[in-house]
Order: sequence, then structure tokens, then C-alpha cells
Amino acid sequence: MTSAPMPEFPASFRWGVSTSAYQIEGAVTAGGRGPSIWDTFAHSPGRIVDGSTGDEACDHYHRYAEDVGLLAGLGVSAYRFSIAWPRVQPTGTGPANPAGLDFYDRLVDALLAAGVDPVATLFHWDLPQALEDAGGWLNRDTAHHFAEYADLVAARLGDRVKLWITLNEPFIHMSLGHGMGVHAPGRMLLFDAFPVAHHQLLGHGLAVSALRARSTSPVAIANNYSPVRLAGKADADRAAGAAYDALHNRLFTDPLLGRGYPAEPGFDPAVVRAGDLDVIAAPIDVLGVNYYNPTGIRAPADEDSPLPFEIVPLAGYPRTAFDWPVAPDGLRELLLQLHHRYGDALPPIQITESGCAYDDVPDADGRVPDPDRIAYLDRHLRAVREAMAAGVPVTGYFVWSLLDNWEWAEGFTKRFGLVHVDYATQRRTPKSSYAWFRDLVRR
Ligand code: FCB
Repeated sequence: MTSAPMPEFPASFRWGVSTSAYQIEGAVTAGGRGPSIWDTFAHSPGRIVDGSTGDEACDHYHRYAEDVGLLAGLGVSAYRFSIAWPRVQPTGTGPANPAGLDFYDRLVDALLAAGVDPVATLFHWDLPQALEDAGGWLNRDTAHHFAEYADLVAARLGDRVKLWITLNEPFIHMSLGHGMGVHAPGRMLLFDAFPVAHHQLLGHGLAVSALRARSTSPVAIANNYSPVRLAGKADADRAAGAAYDALHNRLFTDPLLGRGYPAEPGFDPAVVRAGDLDVIAAPIDVLGVNYYNPTGIRAPADEDSPLPFEIVPLAGYPRTAFDWPVAPDGLRELLLQLHHRYGDALPPIQITESGCAYDDVPDADGRVPDPDRIAYLDRHLRAVREAMAAGVPVTGYFVWSLLDNWEWAEGFTKRFGLVHVDYATQRRTPKSSYAWFRDLVRR
């Protein structure tokens, strides 16, 4: 951490923290919730490194009042949470399940009473299993079902949610969930997963108009970005870098901002119908940017590789407990790249996720010192401020995450929270980064 004082942020800057439903709520059958693809996946042997599931997670469903108290103590102006589609529609279609919406109604009211803006993500990967059984995001109907679900949520919460986020990281859901089989639903389609990209984007566009019909609050999407670091200087490495950049950084953003799909890396566009691109390009008010690290890329060593690039570990960076490189310069680079790439078409950006996993353990006094997380957040915030000074419109920053939580295929083995959670007792203990962030926000 540099000793220079943190540069000032505008008074209107939104300071927040993020979570997602399946990672914290638990209570997977409470209030008539139906199963999601993550319930199915987590309960399939061998899928999660520690064999755990989200059945209990942080038990936030029952402890949300305590967690809102932690948000109030942190002094953040916003809280980004996600709504579990299978609580609202247990089988993904049909009328709303009132008990499911009641939970989010209580949460939203508790947030407002604590002076915290509710920022709701509609889809953070927990698709109702019944929709998966009908083809999931490979099936175009899912896009229409998603818009119906958005309508039901907005009818109930549209007067109080302050920012809507349609989808969380559609790229990761496509690539890890449907390309590589590492996340639910565990499909391994490689580039044949493209319909999952298109139908998520179509669902996003249809949901934008459903939300606008019910709510005057701004609408966003949260994309994951990763600037490319070439691990070779040959033309073939550059071509590989361009292909990866198109896949990770442009596949979702180009069509959202009215440019259609990039030509690389060569998807079969058969599922794209006339008019779809106009639906997808419906204006959004904010672009959510989730950033964790850059990606090292070179040309594939193997001529028969099914992919036009090879991902290689990046040398020379400190690493988190996830073995992800700590590269705040990558965040500045990515923000400048978005600004230059999309110019006036780029809406204001909010960093909707930024954070790190470390093996945080309470000390003998019950405190949880996490100096590496403080240094990480400090450096990433400086990178954001530098990008702002260079003209990139950034209006908010959300730390991933409020709580240690259930980290997908990594189960309980990766701790991202400002607050430590003892999963055996559900005891919450603010880490030293919580006090650091509180002091920064207060300033
Ligand atoms: C992002 C996810 C979020 C969390 C962080 C570490 O890709 O959106 O749920 O898992 O990574």
C-alpha cells in the first residue's frame, strides 16, 4: 500500500459491496423455493472441491437483518445482491410465488431503513432447474421466460430498487458453465456454447423493456472483463490475443452497445434472428464492470487445439489465495480500453465487483487481520481514480464481497469477505478491511 493519501472521489460516487443469492442465502427449500442448476450441480459428486453445497451457505435468508446491520455499520451507500429466480418462480415459469418475493421485499425495506440503496441483480447463475431440463439458455424460450420473471420482480420491487442489473457475467456463465463444464450446468460445448451467449443477451434486452415498463430506476448489466497480456511476440500470438479479447471482452459488449457480434473468434450465428440485435442494443444506463485479473495468452502450442488461443499463467505478480495475479494496472487499462473502444456509446461505468480471496483466520483475540485485502483494494481504487482522471466516467465501486461465502466450484475454500464467517456457527466477524473500507467511505 502506498503511503500517499487516497485521492478524493466525487461526493456522488457510489460505494458498495456485492453478494449473490446462491452464495449466501442457504434455506434452499424455504418459502417454496424450487431447485436451481446450482443445487443440482453442487449435489453431484466431484463437482465442488470440498464436497460442500449452498444448502446453508451463510444462512443469510434467516440472518439478513444482522447482515443489513453490517452494511449500515460499513456506511456504504449501496448493496448489490441477487434475486434467486427459483424463489420467485420455482419452476421458472408461471405466476410469482408470493413467499419468494416477500423475502426480497423485507430485505429491500430493511436496506432502505438503513440508508442503503438496494441494487438488485436478476440473474446470478441460479437458473431454475426446470428451465434447464427444457434446454436452459440453449433454448431461446429461456430469454422470454427471463423477461417474464423480470416483470414479476419489478412489479413488486420496482418502486424501491435503485439500480437493476439484468445478468451477472454472462461470459463466465457461458464459458465455465457451458463451454468447459466447471460451473453449473456442467456442459462442455466449447464454441458450440454460443447460443448461451445470444439467448442471455436476448433475455437481457427483453428484460430491459420489462423493467422500464414497471420502474423508473436505471438499468445495467454486469460483465466480466480481463485485459489480455500476450505471452509471445509472434503474429500467431497476436492473433490468439485478438481472438481471446473478442471472446472475453467484446462478445457481450459489442452487441450491447450496438455493434453486433465481433467477427472473431468465429461463432456460428445461426441462432441470431432478424431484429435480435436491436433488442440486445436497448439503451442501458450503466455498464457494470467486474474485474479480477488480466489473462496471459499465446498461440496454441498444439496445432489440433480446439481453441484459437492458449491461456498461460502470468509471471511477476503477487497472487491471491485463488492463485489469481494481483494486477491493479489491468483495471486501469481495461477502463481506458472500454473508453477508447466505445467512445460516446459507453454509458457511465460502475465497478460492480472487485475483490480478492485470502486465507483469513481469526487471531487469538478473535480479530481477523487481512492486510493483503486492504492493500489490494487500496491499489485497485487508485487505479480506478487514475482512469477517472484520464476521462473514463466511473460512478461507483462495489467490493466483492460483504461476507465470506460459498465460492461456486471452490465451495467454502475461498474467502472474499470484508466480514469473516465461521460456517460452523454462522458467526460474523468484521475483518480489518471492513474498518479500513468504512473509514474510506466515511471520508
Ligand atoms: C465472480 C462472480 C462472483 C464471485 C467472484 C469471485 O466471477 O460473479 O459470484 O464468485 O467471481
